[in-house]
Amino acid sequence: MLTINPKDISTGEFHGYMLGAIAPRPIAFASTIDKAGNVNLSPFSFFNAFGSNPPTIIFSPARRVRDNTIKHTLENVMEVDEVVINIVNYNMVEQMSLASTEYDKGVNEFVKSGLTEAPSSLVKPPRVLEAPAAFECKVKQIISMGDQGGAANLIICEVILAHFNENILDADGKIDPFKLDAVARMGGDWYCRANGDALFEIPKPVRNKGIGVDALPQSVRESVIFTGNNIARLGNVEQLPSAEQAAAYLTENAELKELLTRLKNDPENLIDQIHVLAKQHLEAGNVNEAWMILLQIL
Ligand SMILES: Cc1cc2nc3c(=O)[nH]c(=O)nc-3n(C[C@H](O)[C@H](O)[C@H](O)COP(=O)(O)O)c2cc1C
Repeated sequence: MLTINPKDISTGEFHGYMLGAIAPRPIAFASTIDKAGNVNLSPFSFFNAFGSNPPTIIFSPARRVRDNTIKHTLENVMEVDEVVINIVNYNMVEQMSLASTEYDKGVNEFVKSGLTEAPSSLVKPPRVLEAPAAFECKVKQIISMGDQGGAANLIICEVILAHFNENILDADGKIDPFKLDAVARMGGDWYCRANGDALFEIPKPVRNKGIGVDALPQSVRESVIFTGNNIARLGNVEQLPSAEQAAAYLTENAELKELLTRLKNDPENLIDQIHVLAKQHLEAGNVNEAWMILLQIL
């Protein structure tokens, strides 16, 4: 384990480790305006949602490590306490990157990046027309974490109006992650696209109260075949199938019956083979079947 005290290395180096590890991070593409009316558009991956009543978003334009100056976005929200947080998808990722260029104060990155200004309804900064979602916000508070290069400036925002492009919605009007096609920032120059195999579902454990890994039989808990993900899936069930259900499953499953017969005098191998089979079902999302198989030898 590489263990680092942030005080022992330079801010720039620690920044690299933090951003490499705290990833992927969503990207707030923030449009702001100064008191003279100049528009600014810049991306910030120190960003997230923190609550929905009131809907709260925080992002952080940090002090520049290079020369300890502050970013135009921060200057703007100190002048005009409004911002639109636009969400970035794959179609606009290169334009977003271009907009992160350190242009001179007063330069409009909508123009530089070729993105389109759409008028907001309740705040002065425009939103990005191409963005799949945009949040019009009032800046409630700015918390500065220090006066040295690299210091965070937490801009705490309340969402007062939200826009979602209909083309990211599913038939129920919910946001479809595949249609959203969001991108996120990793360390260095790396990005991540939330689509294809990168997206997967896990049943929420809050809907039921899983039995927990501690309630699994030792042979399952300590199996070298199961991963941590596998045993967590097994521990996420509320109750195990009954002995009757397991017996009925066996009568319908010739392959399993054959395996149990073939390896009945080779118990260690049998356990391994059963675990391999259960693992295949777990990874296909069939936790109930995985349990039916495991119960044959428990
Ligand atoms: C994807 C991405 C994420 C970024 N995240 C941050 C961030 O969270 N905080 C920050 O200070 N700068 C961040 N930057 C750099 C700023 O976008 C860059 O300094 C920009 O020029 C600031 O513009 P401004 O001075 O007009 O506000 C990020 C850049 C990119 C490309």
